[in-house]
Amino acid sequence: MKRSQINKLILILTTVLLISCQSEKPEVNVYSGRHYQVDEDLFRKFTRETGIEVNLVKANTDQLINRLEMEGANSPADLIITADAGHMILCLDKDLLQPMKMEKIAPIVPSQYRDAMNHWTGFTKRARVIVYSKERVTPDELSTYENLVTPEWNKRVLVRSSQNPYNQTLMASILAANGSDGAKNWAQGIVNNMAQPPTGNDRDQVKAIAAGVGDVAIVNTYYMGLLLNSSNPEEQNVARQMGIFFPNQTDRGTHINISGIGITRHAPNKENAQKLIEFLLSEDSQTALANENYEYPVNSFVEWPPLLQEWGTFKPDTIPLYQLGKHLTPATIVFNEVGWK
Ligand code: FE2
Repeated sequence: MKRSQINKLILILTTVLLISCQSEKPEVNVYSGRHYQVDEDLFRKFTRETGIEVNLVKANTDQLINRLEMEGANSPADLIITADAGHMILCLDKDLLQPMKMEKIAPIVPSQYRDAMNHWTGFTKRARVIVYSKERVTPDELSTYENLVTPEWNKRVLVRSSQNPYNQTLMASILAANGSDGAKNWAQGIVNNMAQPPTGNDRDQVKAIAAGVGDVAIVNTYYMGLLLNSSNPEEQNVARQMGIFFPNQTDRGTHINISGIGITRHAPNKENAQKLIEFLLSEDSQTALANENYEYPVNSFVEWPPLLQEWGTFKPDTIPLYQLGKHLTPATIVFNEVGWK
């Protein structure tokens, strides 16, 4: 059996399991494209506090979205969680979501991090920054994402594949800021300056700096937190050799993405879904997500943990993420045109 067929079978079996497990017990069914221990710890805490059981299905986000589409009105899912804004926008485009109640959410989550029609909200923030070798680069050489295409950075830039949603949303933000010609020139310039063809994840880009393959990398901040606090001393050592630079501080600000959550169109446990969203946005949950996973709180009233404070405050790009939706398809076209693998 092919891997894709096996995955499909697993998805169908877990759906059957979820449906057959449905009983009188209060519950909420979550499809999640995030795979972090802290999420599961929070779900357990939610169950302890409310008595509502959280049935979790973890899979690749595209698989989960396909599954929601296939299941239609029979879907047991109440909530979908994705690791980036682009996939929440895709869920909305496919009419897989319904509006949530905003009384408790709107006052604490800035509007740029949630859908204009309330179909999804961010629950963690991630900044896509420039990580640099403290040995070979000084921060005064760095300024903007756009500056990384100058000849000074020839064969020194590391960045992962254009298939990755973090890069697709970043490109959408560059399209919004610089227009299609500007974005294409930028993408071409980055491809020209790449130290190697894109390979591996964000952490691998940082490791490639330590290995001397390149000098700067475009990376989400929390990966630096994960490396610095890794149980592997070699990973800690890699991270300690790096600096973090927040680009575009004198213009639009550093690109921000979110992990998002939304109530599915046919949610059988809509009220419990609303409760779980509000729980994840509470001060305690936001603090746990920031402490354990080094993501920025999306609740503006939550204090940052020490490591995030150490990295410093910065100016974020405040373009509403829902506005990037229209640039996501053009972003993939730009990547293809310039041969960013
Ligand atoms: Fe990630």
